Amino acid sequence: MKRIAVLTSGGDAPGMNAAVRAVVRSGIYRGLEVYGVYRGYSGLIQGDFVEMTAGSVGDIIQKGGTKLYSARCPEFKDPEVRKKAAEQLRAKGIEALVTIGGDGTFTGAMKLSDELGFPVIGIPGTIDNDIPGTDFTIGFDTAINTVIDCIDKIRDTATSHERTYIVEVMGRDAGDIALWAGLAGGAESILIPEESYQISNIIERLNHGAARGKKHSIILVAEGVGSAVDVAKQIEERTDYETRVTVLGHVQRGGSPTAFDRVLASRMGAKAVELLLEGKTNQMVAVRNNEIIGIDFVEAFNGKHQPNLSLYHLAGELSI
Ligand code: ADP
Ligand code: F6P
Repeated sequence: MKRIAVLTSGGDAPGMNAAVRAVVRSGIYRGLEVYGVYRGYSGLIQGDFVEMTAGSVGDIIQKGGTKLYSARCPEFKDPEVRKKAAEQLRAKGIEALVTIGGDGTFTGAMKLSDELGFPVIGIPGTIDNDIPGTDFTIGFDTAINTVIDCIDKIRDTATSHERTYIVEVMGRDAGDIALWAGLAGGAESILIPEESYQISNIIERLNHGAARGKKHSIILVAEGVGSAVDVAKQIEERTDYETRVTVLGHVQRGGSPTAFDRVLASRMGAKAVELLLEGKTNQMVAVRNNEIIGIDFVEAFNGKHQPNLSLYHLAGELSI
């Protein structure tokens, strides 16, 4: 193998740049030529490639977003369009591809490998931490650090005004961001899609806190549960607590990646190159018990992501 390409696709995540840097430099270190593809699968179809040098990925390890840009490309679901993408790659003499993204990105990658025999390795990059088969995805740690920074700030004003704050966080259908940030930020209640909740229990916890002199409360709501506005409405209808809602939104997707995400991305990028050189395809790089491994895409797809629910019970126990 002489020439490979790398792209970022789907929702961006802090640490994607560090992963691109690792793929490029690890590839060059092992004697490969590495091309960057702009705008995910859109760039693949259009042949929007650029040869990367070790210097071209300098000064990006600390930057959020993705230097290669990202895009949603619904056309890639069409087999004829995928054929064109493989032709573009082959026309440039590119023999394998590393895709950095989430499950949608991997579905496209798997089809490229299965239908067109094009070797592909995936690297999980999403703030949601919702990819089965890996303990962590690139960007998750930075996102939860951003969320706890916001919670700490909200707590200041919540205390001054003795209010109850309902904070909505991202995560799509997964509760990981709410769960980890809720535990680390000392939230009074955490609502995640993987666990049902009753508003009466939440109010009971608020009352219990108020009775022991708490001046504020923070309730963290994963977007997969529903709207924080609805939760606030239910509390105000049933109690005298004054509520405010904060929807954190895309602030969670930006910012300089944490050391954890930079190290994870660097290890995963190098592993992706190693797997390609071993002749592997249709695999995703994963971290399990701090070991970086390759697992078949089907293993990731057949599994169901489940957050660490012991953290949910611990958070409940510690926020009495
Ligand atoms: P993520 O990778 O973060 O899950 P998306 O779900 O938006 O983000 O997927 C990223 C891209 O992957 C899509 O824009 C599309 O180009 C490609 N993709 C998603 N689903 C499929 C599919 N079923 N078949 C082929 N390509 C797909
Ligand atoms: O997958 C990352 C994510 O930020 C989710 O947490 C969120 O539901 C979604 O992407 C938002 O997507 P968009 O940036 O297209 O609004």
